[in-house]
Amino acid sequence: MGLNILMAASEAVPFAKEGGLADVVGALPRALAARGHDVRVVMPRYLKVDRERYGLKLLPGVLVVPMGIIGTMYCGVYEGRLPGSGVSVYFLEHEQFYGRGGGLYEVDNVGYLDNDNRFIFLSKAALELCKMLDFRPDVVHAHDWHTAAIPVLLNTLYRGDPHVGNAASLLTIHNMQHQGTFYEGAMEVLGVGWEHFTFLGLEKDNQVNLLKGGLYHATLINTVSEGYAREIQTPEYGWGLEGVVRERRADLSGILNGVDYGEWSPESDPFIPASYTSENLDGKKICKRELQQAMGLPERDDVPLIGMVSRLVKQKGIDVLAEAIPRILELDAQFVMLGAGEPWAHFYFGDIQAAFPDRFRCVIGYDNPLAHRIEAGADFFLMPSAFEPCGLNQMYSLRYGTLPIVRATGGLDDSVENFDERSLSGTGFKFRDLNAGALFDTVGWAVHTWYHRRDAVEALIRNAMGRRFTWDESARGYEGLYAKAVVRRGRNAGR
Ligand code: ADP
Ligand code: GLC
Repeated sequence: MGLNILMAASEAVPFAKEGGLADVVGALPRALAARGHDVRVVMPRYLKVDRERYGLKLLPGVLVVPMGIIGTMYCGVYEGRLPGSGVSVYFLEHEQFYGRGGGLYEVDNVGYLDNDNRFIFLSKAALELCKMLDFRPDVVHAHDWHTAAIPVLLNTLYRGDPHVGNAASLLTIHNMQHQGTFYEGAMEVLGVGWEHFTFLGLEKDNQVNLLKGGLYHATLINTVSEGYAREIQTPEYGWGLEGVVRERRADLSGILNGVDYGEWSPESDPFIPASYTSENLDGKKICKRELQQAMGLPERDDVPLIGMVSRLVKQKGIDVLAEAIPRILELDAQFVMLGAGEPWAHFYFGDIQAAFPDRFRCVIGYDNPLAHRIEAGADFFLMPSAFEPCGLNQMYSLRYGTLPIVRATGGLDDSVENFDERSLSGTGFKFRDLNAGALFDTVGWAVHTWYHRRDAVEALIRNAMGRRFTWDESARGYEGLYAKAVVRRGRNAGR
């Protein structure tokens, strides 16, 4: 039977994106709707979300949002659709919170000082919206710290609410590092009462920790791979919340993200210069040439090309890569990097480009068409992540026959199968230890295989291109969690 699902998040493709979270929130609701559920998405109307371009319509009325000590606040609501679907997306129009230039969460690498208010507002407005729409969700699905206050609100201020009081909650963790920690005064904006500012609630190190509150209060919790669900129970990956996660491990599961193959398929990708299939890879050669040419690298078929598209932050292992890259570039291989992030990395990899102009190119910035051309034109795709809850690019790479070289962590470990020299099974190359030596050895192994084991590389490409991670499959997983959460909520006066 179809469920009513409210999905609340801080970003969604195609409207606003900083990372893979947006890909998930743009795709999962469509897959759920295709399975017969009534899914509604709610997110901020950031300045960059163009009302004309997406045909957004202003709904009549004003949303009234109680913001604790700040008092009552108001916002307009625009309605749009996820492209190619009937899924409604509701955009909160609030000039003071979302009407600014800069990034979604920060500007010049500094988080906005009012992020607590901005996202407590999102969480509360999401619930108030249900009244405005007369929508009674069976489940409210929150993502990351930005909407982690929702499970707390559902168990407290909104427990008796006729529209959302009975809704179960699911909190999906896409990243444990970012927890939404704020000074304790944020409790007065949340307005749930100081009795929740405890070790067994929102308090962590004398601060308000929204993710922690969500972890305690959500009916069920999941992460975006089974591997990451195990990892965050350990100090190495739990960022101080491993104890809370372990406490709730019976209610924790892992569901791997899917890929939007409408966007990411070498047969139909409009951004790449030639299409190709697993039966005929001629087009991939053209893509490689074009990429080399565009990047100003020698146009050679006889040298392997390693690609990377990433936020340039420590999570992605760029500090380890920085240490390993001079040695990697002594191999006869080319390297193209696209990304933006920490300023030191922009300078450092820029210097590497100056030192190895015929081997290494780095484009600092965000460029979706180029990301597609790198996926298609490279032979290998590198992701040396320190942690990776799911990771999308390795899944894209598999589809493009661009063999992933990954650190065996989280979703990378779950989605890439290591090359086995004897059986020629596998889809990529993996290493476990997070250090420059292990990274170099594994890139060396891949490059050596490329030069000396053509048969193996062909087998790996075939295996990789045959792998599928569909959203329908992930949606089935979520459907199972929603059903369980609804039953649990019906029985339980707590969560
Ligand atoms: P994360 O969300 O941690 O950054 P994911 O692998 O889940 O990692 O998602 C990253 C998404 O952002 C992918 O769709 C990737 O192609 C895209 N991306 C990251 N950096 C860039 C960039 N510089 N230019 C274009 N796309 C990028
Ligand atoms: C986060 C994670 C990434 C994951 C994405 C979508 O940004 O860093 O691994 O793929 O969320 O779930």
